[in-house]
Amino acid sequence: MPPAPTRTTVGIVGGGPAGLMLSHLLARDGIESVVVDLRTRHEIEETHRAGILEQDSIRLLVDTGVSDRVLTDGYRHEGIELAFGGAGHRIDFEGLVDASVQLYPQTDVFIDLANARERDGGDVRFGVTDVSVVDVTGDSPGLLFTDAGGVAHEVRCDYLVGSDGSRSICRQAFPEAQRRQYFREYPFAWFGILCEAPPSAPELIYNHSDRGFALISQRTDTLQRMYFQCAVDEDVDAWSDDRIWEELQSRVGANGYTLKEGPITSKTVLPFRSFVQEPMRHGNLLLAGDAAHTVPPTGAKGLNLALADVRVLAEELERAITKDDGALLDDYTTRALGRVWKAQHFSYWMTTMLHLAPDASPFDVRRQIGELSMVVSSTAGSTYLAEAYTGWPVP
Ligand code: PHB
Repeated sequence: MPPAPTRTTVGIVGGGPAGLMLSHLLARDGIESVVVDLRTRHEIEETHRAGILEQDSIRLLVDTGVSDRVLTDGYRHEGIELAFGGAGHRIDFEGLVDASVQLYPQTDVFIDLANARERDGGDVRFGVTDVSVVDVTGDSPGLLFTDAGGVAHEVRCDYLVGSDGSRSICRQAFPEAQRRQYFREYPFAWFGILCEAPPSAPELIYNHSDRGFALISQRTDTLQRMYFQCAVDEDVDAWSDDRIWEELQSRVGANGYTLKEGPITSKTVLPFRSFVQEPMRHGNLLLAGDAAHTVPPTGAKGLNLALADVRVLAEELERAITKDDGALLDDYTTRALGRVWKAQHFSYWMTTMLHLAPDASPFDVRRQIGELSMVVSSTAGSTYLAEAYTGWPVP
């Protein structure tokens, strides 16, 4: 027997940070939502992602009552090191643009959001199966799923939101003739590790070297996150702890740094690509975060973009629902995409400036050094980096 449909105002596919933040912001405006996710809460908590929050992302979490932990447990970073040509060069965010970022992992942002939704009585279903969306251009689009207990559900809504990540099923509900997809592949990936060691530096080091890029990031006083550029099809099992440390030390050693080593507790290869789908709305279905756009991880823009999307989307949905006028959502794509394409450029620029392409000639490597020297020696160059890294204001 098909289930008897229930109703909510906004159906949200995807319970990562974007979906949960949207549900939270809507609830503050008195708007009901139901969030579903194929993954269990535990699976999402175990997925390591980037750890840098722009100043507006921090404000959104604090000011809307999601997290104080982001300030107490996170670490304020007032700059980064760009390391190349034998030395490190600091980009001073505070001095250049009067702004800073917070080192606070995405997994903690997710935990804070999931706790806040639970505290406020939000309807969030993790570990569901068979999710689909139907009638997305009709007045009453539907969200179908089977819950973790095996019970089938049909939820009818006013609006549906796909915040279901880079393999979005919602994106597929846009007719091909009415969507444009923009891709860029990169001929490398990142090998990411977590290790039990003290921090090797007080701030992040973005390290260019003849052996390829490395990023030295942190998590806590005893846990560190580091990455090095690797092949797209790199085999994790081919990398012992010793081999990883040798590779990382040699890349940063070229610029005068030495890393504090410790047991490696996680090893993963991260995919690298740029993607945008336009528009971000089709009928009563709207996309947010990775479902609509993916950036390479250099510069840590992914989570920040997702939070910026849902901040705009919550505002637009609130207006459309209160005034009962779906046409008010016409602005959403334009407002969100302005920031998305700036971040696409920034992530692409940081990536191509710092990574070694497999077919790079000595000319290409020297040119990169020229570019990096220009960035660190010019106030205009370093101000652009500082402004983009700490985040543009939400329009
Ligand atoms: C991280 O800490 O995971 C991280 C930080 C900065 C990036 C990317 C990843 O650009």
